[in-house]
Amino acid sequence: MINIKNRKVFIETYGCQMNEYDTELVKAILSKEGYSFVQDELAADIVMLNTCAIREHAHRKVYGRIHEIKHNRNGAPVKFGLLGCMATNLRSELLETQNLKIDFIAGPDSYKRLPDLIAQCYETEAKHYDLTLSEYETYSDIYPQHKKGVNAWLAVSRGCNNFCTFCVVPYTRGRERSRSPENVVEEVQRLAAEGFKQVTLLGQNVNSYRHEEADFAHLLEKVSEVKGIERIRFTSPHPKDFPRHLLKVIATNPKVCKQVHLPLQAGNNRILELMNRSYTKEEFLDLVAETRSTIPGVALSTDIIVGFCSETNAEFEDTIDVLQRVEFDWAFTFKYSERKQTMASRKFPDDVSDETKKERIMRLTEIQKEITLKKNQAHIGETYEVLMEEGAPTNPPDISVGRADNNKLIIIPKNGHVPGDFVDIRITGATPHALKGTPARS
Ligand code: SAH
Ligand code: SF4
Ligand code: F3S
Repeated sequence: MINIKNRKVFIETYGCQMNEYDTELVKAILSKEGYSFVQDELAADIVMLNTCAIREHAHRKVYGRIHEIKHNRNGAPVKFGLLGCMATNLRSELLETQNLKIDFIAGPDSYKRLPDLIAQCYETEAKHYDLTLSEYETYSDIYPQHKKGVNAWLAVSRGCNNFCTFCVVPYTRGRERSRSPENVVEEVQRLAAEGFKQVTLLGQNVNSYRHEEADFAHLLEKVSEVKGIERIRFTSPHPKDFPRHLLKVIATNPKVCKQVHLPLQAGNNRILELMNRSYTKEEFLDLVAETRSTIPGVALSTDIIVGFCSETNAEFEDTIDVLQRVEFDWAFTFKYSERKQTMASRKFPDDVSDETKKERIMRLTEIQKEITLKKNQAHIGETYEVLMEEGAPTNPPDISVGRADNNKLIIIPKNGHVPGDFVDIRITGATPHALKGTPARS
């Protein structure tokens, strides 16, 4: 029997925060079996990519990376694994494409099988895979091996039942299921004991969380009772799941951050219906008004897709109209990318040209950039409690960074504050990307 213990693993993560969290679960699962993790792909015996399938670009990045890693390793023996959403999205293509030379494949609900799959790779040359999607798996019995820092991710639910027609997630991650509030709170207590100051609750449709009688508002209240955790964020919510009492909890609970992501996707009612988003432009605008009146000072962000099947110029103008009326604090904009399996790929031709999609996205970005700058400039002179963070390794050495409750990035001159500190900062300047400030009492 080959001894596979103590083998070194390199894992790289693509996609959303849920995938980041899943990588932490995978690390916990494999560490328990004696595997160790390395930062250098050339020093590893096993290389795994935890992949995303949300847009075509995500796929292309992964294919490129597989070839690059293989090239860099120059023929050194390695077991290569693919995890995540691309695995469940492409199934047969990945299993049959010989030149990719993938040894094992595991979908988002199969990570407990990884020790077996890897062991089998050392026994036979064949591809070993498990792409089963589960109605029950929530990994509630696994405590992730967290990346050190100020914030920890925590998946409270997995999967999605919404079937927006453009979206691959219900097919890559299966049906929605939630963990019990007790189980979530237990994990949050451990996070507090590890020294984390902030927890971000995750779910593909996080605010539709439901476990027996407990809804998302209840869960937020329970999590906020944990001592040591000072800030609670959550992502990604769906506009259809913001009952009034949830907005009230966000408004009144001091630990729940005053920032709400409201993914609009499109501003035109015919397109919204084709997308199966279950709200109209008018209902969305009402929700924005209610959110703003219930949570004074709330920061709002959004996601927008341009060039969805059959979207005309006039219909795109409705998206611009919502953008200008709402004035989101920031917006993520995407060109529609047709995905295998989705309803849109089966029923609606992807008939808006790439050129038109590019023009529309450029127009949106220009408009939003001005709005974001205006919104940021309006904060000049205000004072925020800022939670200091690690900052990117590429940051200039003379600055420190942190975030206000509303999630805006705050840059201050370096002055001895360390990640995890709360500092009162007076805002002195603004760009479209961040606010600049100085400690309020210095
Ligand atoms: N659960 C989240 C979505 C996660 S994906 C939600 O409902 O908000 C993040 C964003 O990617 C989506 O909000 C959407 O704007 C974008 N997106 C999803 N599928 C896409 C596709 N096929 N083409 C382009 N953008 C897409
Ligand atoms: Fe995809 Fe819609 Fe589910 Fe979000 S809510 S993950 S966009 S199907
Ligand atoms: Fe990508 Fe899957 Fe997340 S498709 S965005 S990694 S849920």
